[in-house]
Amino acid sequence: MWYNLAMDENIHIPHIPVLLAETLELLCVKQGGSYFDGTFGNGGHSRAIAQLGGIVTAADRDPNVSASEGITLIHSSFAEFLANSDTKYDGMLFDLGVSSMQLDNGERGFSFSKDAPLDMRMDTTQSLSAYEIVNTWEAPELARIFYSYGEERYGRQIAQRICERRAYKPIETTIELTELIKGHPKRVFQALRIAVNDELGELERMLSLAPERLKQGGRLVVISFHSLEDRLVKYAFRDDERLNVITKHTVTASEHELANNPRSASAKLRAAGART
Ligand SMILES: C[S@@+](CC[C@H](N)C(=O)[O-])C[C@H]1O[C@@H](n2cnc3c(N)ncnc32)[C@H](O)[C@@H]1O
Repeated sequence: MWYNLAMDENIHIPHIPVLLAETLELLCVKQGGSYFDGTFGNGGHSRAIAQLGGIVTAADRDPNVSASEGITLIHSSFAEFLANSDTKYDGMLFDLGVSSMQLDNGERGFSFSKDAPLDMRMDTTQSLSAYEIVNTWEAPELARIFYSYGEERYGRQIAQRICERRAYKPIETTIELTELIKGHPKRVFQALRIAVNDELGELERMLSLAPERLKQGGRLVVISFHSLEDRLVKYAFRDDERLNVITKHTVTASEHELANNPRSASAKLRAAGART
């Protein structure tokens, strides 16, 4: 298991698109080609594709994300967008997880060292938030997400502690939660974020829909940040008859990138091409 350094509060994450050169090469970006960036974020990857002459349609489920010139941005989850569109692309990119913008904005509740309401919604219009999960889900459900999404082996004990505390007062802020679960915030916060945003469900739906949206020979590139995601991508690519696996092993950051972009340390990229 590797950890999402983007969740490490002590590291300042600059606005640098991860594995940029590798992504552009594996997408085979060409002048006039059409590309879908399902995770627009700060727009770093999209802008680079556009600079190479690609025509970019992008999606982000966060309504606070704003478009860049020349790029069509749709505020939607990528799975929902793909389910409702039949446009085909020469390349599709998914750079999963949260953006530096979301993490740096203390009010969003993604960060366990910044005092904020328990929120963690990427899509701020959805109703499920970390507050609701922490204060209403039954202990076994909490233990399950801590164990399976955070790979937190003390998941049951942490769930128990949360339930004891909330019985007399709701847990309202990131710092209250962090203090309650001393020593384990990273994994628990990762688990909550995955659950709030149904990140694995989104990924699974995308992996089944995206191959249909590729033109013949089109490329699908996915960058993931923890082993649960990478496992889903690896097996979906391997088992999907519509795809050829292009990266036999994961592509990871170069020494140079590692020295300049801490977020790249946990990034694993896989690429596949459409057979027909
Ligand atoms: C790691 S950032 C992407 C950074 C981007 N590649 C760049 O260069 O700036 C991930 C972004 O994807 C968005 N996101 C994550 N899951 C999503 C989903 N299922 N559908 C749409 N957007 C999603 C997040 O809101 C966040 O803004």
